[in-house]
Amino acid sequence: MKIAIGSDHGGFILKGEILKHIQSKGFDVKDFGCYSADSIDYPDVAHEVSEAVIKGGYDRGILICGTGIGISIAANKIPGIRAALCGDCFSAKAAREHNDANILTLGERVTGVGLAKMITDIWLATEFEGGRHADRVNKITDIEGRYNKI
Ligand code: RB5
Repeated sequence: MKIAIGSDHGGFILKGEILKHIQSKGFDVKDFGCYSADSIDYPDVAHEVSEAVIKGGYDRGILICGTGIGISIAANKIPGIRAALCGDCFSAKAAREHNDANILTLGERVTGVGLAKMITDIWLATEFEGGRHADRVNKITDIEGRYNKI
């Protein structure tokens, strides 16, 4: 599985931890920045990682900012992205099983490193259940389609 990862300065330290963690488990990960703790704008990295998932051949993305909120809002503006902010393991599992979330977002200032690693492991290991959940996800895609015609 190919994974694109990125963060702003607020998620820089946690990104490094998650990157090392998933690389050690054998995942093929590309780091889209940021590459220092200098301040950057989270919509920029959200856009880059989202494009990598939609068009760049990456299966999934992980985005991290201070809260996980801003980067998640930004990523969800890109058609086809279903970014899920997860702060617990139950949500990480459901985000895959029910929502087919293709991007996981985390908040460095909210979620500790140990929990963030567990959330990431569960999210990476869980498959979409399809069925009635696919019908609902398809409705999200339909809504996107209506607005993208503007
Ligand atoms: C940066 O200070 C902070 O606003 C950002 O990392 C994030 O938390 C936004 O939602």
